[in-house]
Amino acid sequence: MSAKPLKVLACGDVEGRFSQIFNRVSAIQKKSGPFDLLLCVGDFFGDNDTEWKDYKSGKLKVPIATLILGATNDRQASYYTEDGQEMCENVTYLGKKGTYTESSGLQIAYLSGLESSSEEGDNSHFGRKDTTGLTLPVIADTKYKGVDILITSQWPKNVQKYASAIEGIEDGDQLGSEAVAEVARLLQPRYHFAGLSGIFYERQPYRNHKVIAESSRHATRFIGLAKVGNKQKKKFLYAFNVVPLNKMESAELNKTPQDSTECPFPMSRFWSSNQIDDTDTQFFYNMSGKNKQGSKHKSDFKDGGDRKKQKKQPQATGPCWFCLGSPEVEKHLVVSVGTECYVALAKGGLVPEHVLILPIGHHQSTVSSPQDVRDEIDQYKSCLKKCFKDQGKGVVFFERNFRTQHLQIQVVPIGGSAIQEVKDTFMECAESESISLDEIPKHSDLKQIIPVGVPYFYAELPLGDKLLHRISKNFPLQFGREVLCESGVLNMPERADWKNCKISKEDETTMTADFKAMFKPYDFSLL
Ligand SMILES: *[C@@H]1O[C@H](CO)[C@@H](O)[C@H](O)[C@H]1NC(C)=O
Ligand SMILES: *[C@@H]1O[C@H](CO)[C@@H](O)[C@H](O)[C@H]1NC(C)=O
Ligand SMILES: [Zn+2]
Repeated sequence: MSAKPLKVLACGDVEGRFSQIFNRVSAIQKKSGPFDLLLCVGDFFGDNDTEWKDYKSGKLKVPIATLILGATNDRQASYYTEDGQEMCENVTYLGKKGTYTESSGLQIAYLSGLESSSEEGDNSHFGRKDTTGLTLPVIADTKYKGVDILITSQWPKNVQKYASAIEGIEDGDQLGSEAVAEVARLLQPRYHFAGLSGIFYERQPYRNHKVIAESSRHATRFIGLAKVGNKQKKKFLYAFNVVPLNKMESAELNKTPQDSTECPFPMSRFWSSNQIDDTDTQFFYNMSGKNKQGSKHKSDFKDGGDRKKQKKQPQATGPCWFCLGSPEVEKHLVVSVGTECYVALAKGGLVPEHVLILPIGHHQSTVSSPQDVRDEIDQYKSCLKKCFKDQGKGVVFFERNFRTQHLQIQVVPIGGSAIQEVKDTFMECAESESISLDEIPKHSDLKQIIPVGVPYFYAELPLGDKLLHRISKNFPLQFGREVLCESGVLNMPERADWKNCKISKEDETTMTADFKAMFKPYDFSLL
């Protein structure tokens, strides 16, 4: 059975009428309390905040733990100094964006300020980085269940779609923010409160799943609250009981209310996940089956003889050119073999030191590889970076998880001004191909961001920048290669097509030996 519910109050814009709201809440506490929490949406401060100093000094008391949102203009911004700040006893500013977990386990997601089209936003606006920062962890988590409550300054755009009209406004379409709608769609709160509009609107609950097509999930109740103490006596205070969703049985949580509607918000671009297209178009190896070598003598290619025990590795069902145990792999290209991964010269590489990091066993992508494999990929990456750093070069790593069956991380060293230029070049090329390449935080982990099964292109640049594109339909297979051939980077347009870069097997063997010799002092697998 469910845990004991929390009693929560939500109120609309306070706009400096502090005694009005707190006296009202005190009265409610006595009459029908105790409530556990007061959530304030919209503007907490207003044009006249003269009462504030008495709350701040402790002369007047706030009767309940109160969570507030941030500024929507510069004047208000002066009150806020940091996320999570205690404004006075019992009043906490949550922050610009994030998720707050109350001691009972109740989860409250919040997004402060007005929508801005910029990346960063400012002290009264949230930018695209804020909404992505709030939703990326959710998108990455296939077991995500939702949050209990979402509070935003602004309304989500088009919330009235499929529902009753919003009373008191002519054109509901003009109200609210598209970005807030996207956040609501992704976070799937059970309750969503917003302010700023001066309107009370309790929408019919909307479903977070498609009927029949998807299994049932909990519904969202959106409630727009009017301003505290408004003359028209529109409702500005809303009381409800809620059991944190992580303490509920899913059958109970996911019960669909009678009057629920479709979700009013458009499908986010993030959810347009596509089926994996496993047509094999690997372009670094000849797929026609020539140059096959027997794999009976593993020690032929295993550098260092039988130093390491060969682990049992997952095998491809069909022939795979990259499984190290398969007869198809071109062993004369292998430069280093670890426990989980190996490094091989890229066929038709851009530069002689263009190599690939590959798992020994059959894994499709970084995201779908087990931790041991990802750890060793990181180990190879750092050895390769050291090796090239000593030559004054930086390394570009990129992976395309689209139309490949076996993970290949391309490793291309670049030097000179290209180290600075390469990020802009990636961005420009992406723009000209209409590819949305997103910068993800430097310390983020791809696995936390991309669900297994979603195709992507991912690059790590010498200065630590990480770029990610979720592939939705088509993607130029040689994109990474094309970018690196641009004038600002390697400046070798003629090598964008790998077919122009083929060399003889003898030359490949020589290049492999050269690379091995160069890499030897850095290669952890030889230590
Ligand atoms: C803060 O709120 C709690 C209830 O949540 C109340 O017991 C306490 O007295 C309040 N503090 C002040 C200074 O009023
Ligand atoms: C691949 O190998 C086949 C058979 O040996 C050969 O005819 C073909 O030209 C090669 N293709 C490429 C792209 O190297
Ligand atoms: Zn394979």
